Amino acid sequence: MRLILLGPPGSGKGTQAQYIMERYEIPQISTGDMLRKSVADGTPLGIQIKATMDAGNLVSDDIIIKLVKERIQQPDCKSGFLLDGFPRTVRQAQALMESGVKIDKIIELQVSDDEIVRRLSGRRVHPGSGRVYHVEYQPPARAGHDDVTGEPLVQRDDDKEETIRKRLVIYHAQTSQVSVFYMRLTLADSENSPQYIKINAEQPPLVVCDEIFRNIA
Ligand code: AP5
Repeated sequence: MRLILLGPPGSGKGTQAQYIMERYEIPQISTGDMLRKSVADGTPLGIQIKATMDAGNLVSDDIIIKLVKERIQQPDCKSGFLLDGFPRTVRQAQALMESGVKIDKIIELQVSDDEIVRRLSGRRVHPGSGRVYHVEYQPPARAGHDDVTGEPLVQRDDDKEETIRKRLVIYHAQTSQVSVFYMRLTLADSENSPQYIKINAEQPPLVVCDEIFRNIA
């Protein structure tokens, strides 16, 4: 199964990706996690993109397209994968289509802007695994620590309210066009295009997960 998870920042893509990966035994390909790892490792790419990410701007299409093309050629992607945070521009979506990779389903998580600000300002992450918590909605068993390893949780640099608002503006200006791109494809040729599924993601995480599983079964 080859899936794409679309949705604004904080809509729960990372949270739902964990459930989908386990159920379908496919790797999650999160461009955000890959980029953050480059920054944390201090690679030349990481040094180049850190300021862009901290400011909530998009990293250039050329960098992202190369990164994803290389990743989906890895052996663990043979029987499928879940793209989380890619494509984010129409150019990225076109590049994916032109590379001949057939996507089965696209899941769009829909959440209002106000709820997103609430979610992202309370988000905490475990840097090692990408596990996601929320101080109020999904608290870890021990405040500030990962449930599995006990290691400290951190707040992302781009989860400040001002940066969250900027990311939302970019989402509405650019990434929402990706939904239009795929919906047009499906309307033009439903047999050969990915199935497009919209999910009300303003419900508890497990309810959202059930709805996704029902729709992709
Ligand atoms: P990325 O890491 O992809 O961030 P994002 O898309 O902005 O999404 P988030 O990770 O912020 O949110 P999410 O939807 O995964 O929500 P989560 O599950 O964590 O990208 C970061 C940056 O990298 C970009 O700004 C850009 O610079 C760069 N980048 C990445 N990909 C790129 C690309 N393709 N092109 C160009 N640049 C790129 O949940 C959020 C919070 O809500 C958590 O606390 C969680 O516990 C809570 N929560 C989740 N679900 C629920 C629920 N149902 N109810 C209540 N709380 C919930």
